[in-house]
Formats: sequence, C-alpha cells, structure tokens
Amino acid sequence: MKKWNVATVKAAKGKEKLGCCTAYDACFARLADEAGVPIILVGDSMGMTMLGYETTLPVKLEETLSATAAVARAAKNAMVVADMPFGSYQCGDDLAVANAVKCIQAGADAIKLEGGASVCALVKRLTTAGIPVLAHVGMTPQSVNEYGGFKRQGKTREAAEKVIEDAKAVEAAGAFAVTLECIPSELAAEITATLKIPTVGIGAGPVCDAQWLVMHDLLGLNERVPSFVKQYAHLAGSVRGAFKAYVDEVRDGVFPA
Ligand code: KIV
Repeated sequence: MKKWNVATVKAAKGKEKLGCCTAYDACFARLADEAGVPIILVGDSMGMTMLGYETTLPVKLEETLSATAAVARAAKNAMVVADMPFGSYQCGDDLAVANAVKCIQAGADAIKLEGGASVCALVKRLTTAGIPVLAHVGMTPQSVNEYGGFKRQGKTREAAEKVIEDAKAVEAAGAFAVTLECIPSELAAEITATLKIPTVGIGAGPVCDAQWLVMHDLLGLNERVPSFVKQYAHLAGSVRGAFKAYVDEVRDGVFPA
C-alpha cells in the first residue's frame, strides 16, 4: 500500500469514497492506519474527546503538535492532517503560517482550518508556501459562541448560498479538499457536484466524496453520539467491564494468581 497524499486524495474523487477518521495518539493511529484509513485527522475535537472540555476552543497548539507527532510516528500509509486549533490562525497571517509550519514539522502532511471566504488569503499563502490545506465550511465548531451551540448550518437558501460561496472560495484559494460539516445532504450534494476538489462530509449526508467520523464516536467510546453517527463497535462497555473485572480480581485475590 502506498502512502496517501494530496494527489491521490484528489484523484479519488468520483472513483473511490474515502472513510476517514480522527485519532489523537500513536496506539489508535496505528490501528486505523493498519485498517486502511486513508486520512487521519488530529482533530481539535480532542478537546472534547480526550481532554474533557465542552467545546474545541480551549485546545492549545502545543497539544495539537504533541498529538500530531504521536499520530505521524504511527501512521505509515495514512495522510496525517493536523487541525489548527482556535487562536493559532486567527492571530494574523504571519503567525498563522509559522504555526502551520510547526504542524508540518511535527509530522503532519497537511493542515486543516475552519472558514470560507474569510480565510482565503491565508489558504493561498499556505498553499503557496507548500503547506497543503484541507478547508472546513458549513458548521465550524470553533464558531460555537457565534452560533449559540453546535447548530446545523445552510438551512435556508440564503444560508446555503453562503456555504456554497465559502466552498468555492477555498477551492479557488488552493485547498486540496474541503470538510462539509452539519449541512443538509442536498446542499452537500450540490457542493460535491460543483467542486473539482473532494468534499469530506460529517453530518452532511451520503453524497460527499469522503466521510469523517470522530474516532470515539465510531468506536463507541462515546456512549452519547450525534444522530448521524454510526457506531462500528461499542467499546465503552467492554473497556469499563475490563477495568471492573481487574479491580474485582485484585480485591478478591484472583489476580495475580
Ligand atoms: O476536529 C475534528 O474532529 C473535526 C472533524 C469533525 C472534521 O474537525
């Protein structure tokens, strides 16, 4: 198997649908990589899945860099995408480029950032500097305070037009793919048909060129999941059961034998 890269991800559009997911450490990245996951996102969702926050906003660049390095050490064939956390690219384009360079130097093959037309100048600078960008439009979780919650976007025709314009703008700026999060599936289908670059949907229906799932959701490590999620395992119960069996056996003198 060859390592996935910008060219192979772009070439997959219309030919092969890609099931992509997040991972935040070497253990799970290795398992996802061995299973053939083409793109592993070191998502800022780590704030919620790994660090216990209510939103992604408190994640620090240092946390992303450390997780990216761990994932990159384990992923042999998957493309590793570092998700730039809130504050690491809203602070002026010079600092944003410097922070993206840190992500690449930590081992990422590309970076992801949220926003459409408003981040186009930055996307252009990054791609010109040789840093591949996976864009993210629709519901952008770093805007949670603006939305007043994690709310589906693009529901009216006017709002849908804005998402379409954002997606076209990041494509024109040089993004190699674009995440479409929590938008109606008809809108995601329209954008997927309009763009030349692949769309990676999450809560955006079946027509996108690729899909994301957050690792903790797909593995059932999170017991409460959004309605669009399919759980391919129910690990929370197994893990809790294993911890409990261990505690019981030590208490009862069964282990060590
Ligand atoms: O951080 C993340 O996991 C993401 C996905 C939801 C695409 O941005």
